[in-house]
Amino acid sequence: MTIDESPPGVPPGRVGPVLISAEQITSRVRELAAEITADYAGRRVLLVGVLKGAVMFMADLARAIDLPVEIDFMAVSSYGESTKSSGVVRIVKDLETDIRGRHVLIVEDIVDSGLTLRYLKELLAAREPASMEICALMVKEGAKTDARYVGFPIPPDFVVGYGLDVAQHYRELDSIRVFEPV
Ligand code: IMP
Ligand code: MG
Repeated sequence: MTIDESPPGVPPGRVGPVLISAEQITSRVRELAAEITADYAGRRVLLVGVLKGAVMFMADLARAIDLPVEIDFMAVSSYGESTKSSGVVRIVKDLETDIRGRHVLIVEDIVDSGLTLRYLKELLAAREPASMEICALMVKEGAKTDARYVGFPIPPDFVVGYGLDVAQHYRELDSIRVFEPV
């Protein structure tokens, strides 16, 4: 399917070329899961997915990790629907799990400025987990991050698909594509 016009409500632009194909995602997710499986052997890991962008990644990663895992979700939101992080984050949905003493692996779609994860880590660290690491599918060039697992370093473009959106659109695409504003 080709998409060459923005649906109503989406900032003007078009979905451009494939940056990361579905096949590339699948194979990288397997590699990350193998690393995580080795690193967490003998421990029960709690995957904390950051809604909504990490949903596809989380679902694939959880199934590829060859260990018993638990999953939970948080929703944080920067204000507004723009294509730039505002740095102002609010909690929309908190965890249901008490993470004290747990091995927490935060699963995030993308790190851009790093502000969202910095905020989230501080918040969760106060709850005294036994350990806390970050697994990010993508990290944008120039981003500050201490993510232990990174799927793909990418150029500083705005991307959509495989869970990532622009104004709630295009999350369902099975590849990562560049959104080209006009
Ligand atoms: P940060 O706080 O600047 O690191 O931005 C992180 C959050 O902004 C991510 O969790 C995404 O929800 C969103 N975001 C950043 N870059 C993109 C992008 O290229 N496409 C879609 N969402 C993005
Ligand atoms: Mg996000």
